[in-house]
Amino acid sequence: MPGALYQYLADDHERLDSLFQRAVARPGVIDPEPYHEFRRGLLRHISMEEKIVLPAIARWQDGKKASIAERLRLDHGALVSLLAPPPTPSIMLTIQSILEVHNKLEEQGDGLYRLLDDLAGTEAEAMLAQLKAAPPVAVLPNNDKPEVLDAAKKAVTRAGHEFKVAS
Ligand SMILES: [Fe+2]
Ligand SMILES: [Fe+2]
Repeated sequence: MPGALYQYLADDHERLDSLFQRAVARPGVIDPEPYHEFRRGLLRHISMEEKIVLPAIARWQDGKKASIAERLRLDHGALVSLLAPPPTPSIMLTIQSILEVHNKLEEQGDGLYRLLDDLAGTEAEAMLAQLKAAPPVAVLPNNDKPEVLDAAKKAVTRAGHEFKVAS
């Protein structure tokens, strides 16, 4: 049985996934409304993991980071940078392929969210309240400068993923 923290974060993955699916439902176009909700939501989700979840795990393990923390951080960096340029089918395809692997690393049996539940113990309720109260993050408009897209492609490669080109 997954604990409450696992459930909250995995439900957020699911919510974001359905926004993503709505954003790309029509081939060749990105639907702006679900896209922007997905973008805001993913930025908040990543911020919760970076600012609340990963630091709490390190604290509860006496300063020892989760072994997959670095890997997840690189993915987060790639995802955030892919949300900076205006969305294209290739960018969306790349986001999807990163999230497929990334969310599994968090949700699987020996993944981040189980570890979080295990370590939280009696503090689980307080942590859940903290996650729910996490404020929305400040979101800048998409930036169409070519260097913004270049930086995103570099961050994808740095994280060990491939920038996908939609056919
Ligand atoms: Fe994550
Ligand atoms: Fe996540």
